[in-house]
Amino acid sequence: MAFSSAEAFAPATVANLGVGFDILGMALAGMGDRATVSWRDAPDIIISRIEGDNAQLPRDPKQNVAAVSARAMLAHLGENRGLRIELVKGLPLASGLGSSAASAVVTVIALNKLLGDPFTREQLLPFCLEGEALVSGYHADNVAPCLLGGIVLVAGITVAAMQPLPVPADMHLALATPALAVPTNQARALLPDSVSLRHLIHQTGMVSRLIDALHRDDLQALGAAMEGDRVIEPARAGLMLLLDEMRALAKRNGAIALFIGGAGPTLCALCDCAEVARRVATAMQSAYQSANFDCIAQATRVDRAGAVVLRAQ
Ligand code: HSE
Repeated sequence: MAFSSAEAFAPATVANLGVGFDILGMALAGMGDRATVSWRDAPDIIISRIEGDNAQLPRDPKQNVAAVSARAMLAHLGENRGLRIELVKGLPLASGLGSSAASAVVTVIALNKLLGDPFTREQLLPFCLEGEALVSGYHADNVAPCLLGGIVLVAGITVAAMQPLPVPADMHLALATPALAVPTNQARALLPDSVSLRHLIHQTGMVSRLIDALHRDDLQALGAAMEGDRVIEPARAGLMLLLDEMRALAKRNGAIALFIGGAGPTLCALCDCAEVARRVATAMQSAYQSANFDCIAQATRVDRAGAVVLRAQ
């Protein structure tokens, strides 16, 4: 069926899950981005409108994640028609909630519908990666869960390297995103070039424990593994706001563990029920506000569906 425009939604995502740097990510229910794509008579891709970014995102299609992803997809098909992209950012930029991945994924999902679904969802991954790479290099730990939903092991950047993992039945999350931009490139620049064999063994053990805990539905083991990061969190801790204080506060309010969401500054607490997640989110938000930082807080769960088409006409 031929459409002239299509609209999609893509959820927030949290990469790393603590110890799984660049290889684990999960989609979150609730917040996300929307995009509408439509054909235009003139050639070329244009960004006709972006809402919700405080005019911070580039409108130049060569510099814009959404347009770069769309261009990669159209080029792959040898499609020459011009495209208009309208983006509504529900996700704060540079927040650790996968904002750039959502821009890429939401555009590509909408464009696939506009084109009559020539690609499976998995086949859309390389186009999303082209956009994401513009901002923070080739890593799929936000893009893959945004596209596929759930918790995803990302053992590389090919479709074959994506492995959906089980989501524990009682897994709830409390997130606090203080108003402080932490660009991913800046957070990556702090990381060491190499790690010791001792740390390698420790990290490998913790990631294995994390994946095993997901399979066994064991939230306590999951939380212990998430907090077992001895390489990335110590390197980035100085960029985070009140990390130790928030971890202690979250646990006093019943959280099992707390880790940095992606490259931060979002902090993500693992909880075992909705009531605790709400209490932890509220406590973290109040603590940030008391320290004079605005903060978005949410109690949420893993989103299972990934990006969805909302409308096509
Ligand atoms: N894995 C990435 C990082 C996620 O932590 O740098 C942010 O894009």
